[in-house]
Amino acid sequence: MTLFVSPGDGVVDRIIKRTQIADNIYEFWINAPHVTKTGRAGQFVVLRIDETGERIPLTISATRKDDVRIVFMATGKTTQQLATLQEGECIRDIAGPLGTPSDVKKWGRCAVIGGGVGIACLPILARELKAAGNEVTGIIGARNAGLLLLEDELREACDDLVICTDDGSKGFHGFPADILKEKVAAKALDAVWIIGPAIMMKITSLATLDSGIKTFVSLNPIMVDGTGMCGSCRVTVGGETKFACVDGPEFDAHQVDWNELMNRQRTYNPQEKESLEHYHEHKCRCGDH
Ligand SMILES: Cc1cc2nc3c(=O)[nH]c(=O)nc-3n(C[C@H](O)[C@H](O)[C@H](O)COP(=O)(O)OP(=O)(O)OC[C@H]3O[C@@H](n4cnc5c(N)ncnc54)[C@H](O)[C@@H]3O)c2cc1C
Ligand code: FES
Repeated sequence: MTLFVSPGDGVVDRIIKRTQIADNIYEFWINAPHVTKTGRAGQFVVLRIDETGERIPLTISATRKDDVRIVFMATGKTTQQLATLQEGECIRDIAGPLGTPSDVKKWGRCAVIGGGVGIACLPILARELKAAGNEVTGIIGARNAGLLLLEDELREACDDLVICTDDGSKGFHGFPADILKEKVAAKALDAVWIIGPAIMMKITSLATLDSGIKTFVSLNPIMVDGTGMCGSCRVTVGGETKFACVDGPEFDAHQVDWNELMNRQRTYNPQEKESLEHYHEHKCRCGDH
């Protein structure tokens, strides 16, 4: 379902709360009842800041009555521009919920694993898995303690939470993959979700290869329309071409062609760099910084 809603009416797509929750990472609660009505774990929205803006996909991190939460890292032109918006301001349109929800059912013992900003996708998933009668372990990893997100919320949503940092500044000194390997060896899991940068999902999912443990990853290819029309998000899974926006974004980790995904993610790097440079040049000329 795609809905384009004008912010002009002052009712929807208004930023209710804006918080910077880690280095360069922002949490926005946005009034968007058309998203919260049916939005589920694993789904995303595509938003456009203004008339001429680029359309970017962001995962539904939580919902509360008519408000949806997005958590994003200000990496390029659009996310940096988004980060400048303040409470009370509106977003031109938010289309969603898009994509296929996570396969939530009674699996038994589940692990939800997040890397970097991917951690933001876990609370809604952990809560849905718990509500379906599963035991849920959260495993989160970041480069350092300053980049860890939503720790308290995840401690509450999961039965158990393991924190990892690459530099040892908090929790286990190492990667979520190391913890996952231990749990696989102990035969302590029935299903696993891994959400983070492509390289982290590729490496971490090797821990469950040949174990028979169902392992899902949430793919993040370039997306444009988010509705299966443009073909920009195509990925190869199990030797078949899939559109991540409608067939996913969650897929069986062990079937994904990771090299193709990572190559395609780099396709627009020169244009993205140019767009960011133009944005900063324009900001400087306008004295808007
Ligand atoms: C289904 C899905 C869910 C996502 N959820 C989140 C989230 O919850 N939080 C978050 O911080 N990020 C999320 N992303 C990534 C986010 O969409 C990109 O960071 C964002 O589009 C970057 O735009 P930009 O203009 O700021 O950066 P750019 O300079 O345009 O690009 C920076 C990098 O972002 C990626 N990117 C750029 N445009 C797109 C696009 N249209 N689609 C996908 N990736 C793109 C590319 O890898 C690129 O190298 C998600 C991506 C997908 C596909
Ligand atoms: S984003 Fe266009 S087909 Fe998926």
